[in-house]
Amino acid sequence: MNHIIAPSILAADFANLQRDIEMINQSAADWIHVDIMDGMFVPNLSMGFPVVSAVKKHAQRPLDVHLMIVDPDRYIKRFAEVGASNITVHYEACPNLHRTVQLIKECGCTAGVALNPHSPVDLLKDIVADLDLVLIMSVNPGFGAQHFIEHTYKKLADIQALSAQSNANLMIEVDGGVDETNAAALFKAGAKVLVAGNSVFSSANPAQTIKNLKNANA
Ligand code: DX5
Ligand code: ZN
Repeated sequence: MNHIIAPSILAADFANLQRDIEMINQSAADWIHVDIMDGMFVPNLSMGFPVVSAVKKHAQRPLDVHLMIVDPDRYIKRFAEVGASNITVHYEACPNLHRTVQLIKECGCTAGVALNPHSPVDLLKDIVADLDLVLIMSVNPGFGAQHFIEHTYKKLADIQALSAQSNANLMIEVDGGVDETNAAALFKAGAKVLVAGNSVFSSANPAQTIKNLKNANA
């Protein structure tokens, strides 16, 4: 089965970030999802290098860095230096996506591309063979705790078909509105990695919620 759960620290308590990272370290979580927002690509700001660096110091899980920023090539090397294991950029933010993907790999990270809810999976057909991961956004990027978009299931079917054709090792990640009510269906639909912010950090027992998500079974 080997499903991957990546709690999103966007929903953590930023004044108690070390405590929340320790919780993740003690939990069944596999990765730590780090959302970077620039106030341009998305209408919100989140965190930058000093925070990612501080998280890395305590994290005992790989950092899955999701760049919601314009022209991400400017900062890829620095995110690799502060501890990213995977770097995901948005298709919609990269006019020279092939070059961007190569740059991520040259920096020693695995490379992901995210698709906004309105972007069809087909857009990736000439790049998918070069990717380690595709992130299907199941909300519009920019904020945590939004409502899951059901059309995601159709896109999961499309990306699975594309992966079968062109890249059998592709990891499929879903981000936004993931909780205990949809995790099993998402895994069944082909997701390998689930990002969860609000459902984990607003839970009375976050470590238990992570475990439940990881073991979700249809
Ligand atoms: C949204 C971010 C997500 C967000 C998910 O722009 O990319 O990673 O943290 O949060 P939830 O799980 O609360 O929807
Ligand atoms: Zn994200």
